[in-house]
Amino acid sequence: MKFETLTPADISVIYQIEQQANPYPWPRSAFDSSFSDLYLNIKLVNGDQIIGFIICKIVGDQAELFNICVNPAYQGKGYGKQLLQYLQTVLQQRIVAELWLEVRSSNKVANALYQQQGFNCVDVRRNYYKNAQGSEDALIMCLYLS
Ligand SMILES: CC(C)(COP(=O)(O)OP(=O)(O)OC[C@H]1O[C@@H](n2cnc3c(N)ncnc32)[C@H](O)[C@@H]1OP(=O)(O)O)[C@@H](O)C(=O)NCCC(=O)NCCS
Repeated sequence: MKFETLTPADISVIYQIEQQANPYPWPRSAFDSSFSDLYLNIKLVNGDQIIGFIICKIVGDQAELFNICVNPAYQGKGYGKQLLQYLQTVLQQRIVAELWLEVRSSNKVANALYQQQGFNCVDVRRNYYKNAQGSEDALIMCLYLS
């Protein structure tokens, strides 16, 4: 297993992983617009296979985690944690002070991962996301890196 830079050539594969892993998947257009000099996008690979990926944008000394996703066949084996810890290391090397993210309140696995990694819930956007029941809250989380 190793970490590599995610590139636009990977979009077709990560779009498929996203469709399989995320009950609320990004449209392909969101991936298409997530590659520029501001982005730090990472993949965890085993040979040619993408196990999981991260899409993160850095503006000044602040970063935002837009997407973290692990292929369902490899979930629950510590790869999401490894991706997040690797991202933290790279951000610290780049002297980024804060890592922000937004997560559905119902996403128990992601919430457990973020809390375990030291993220603080700093705000709640009530009824921000649509879901089958109508709507649910978005939790705004921040990890202080310095
Ligand atoms: C969220 C996600 C990236 C986590 O990746 P993962 O590889 O499955 O997670 P890991 O195996 O690294 O587990 C990390 C932590 O998450 C939590 N976790 C993992 N599986 C869990 C489960 N089934 N139930 C509850 N908590 C769980 C635990 O806290 C775990 O730490 P521990 O093993 O030390 O207890 C992955 O589930 C995923 O791709 N989900 C779909 C996309 C998504 O929701 N992304 C987040 C959007 S904000």
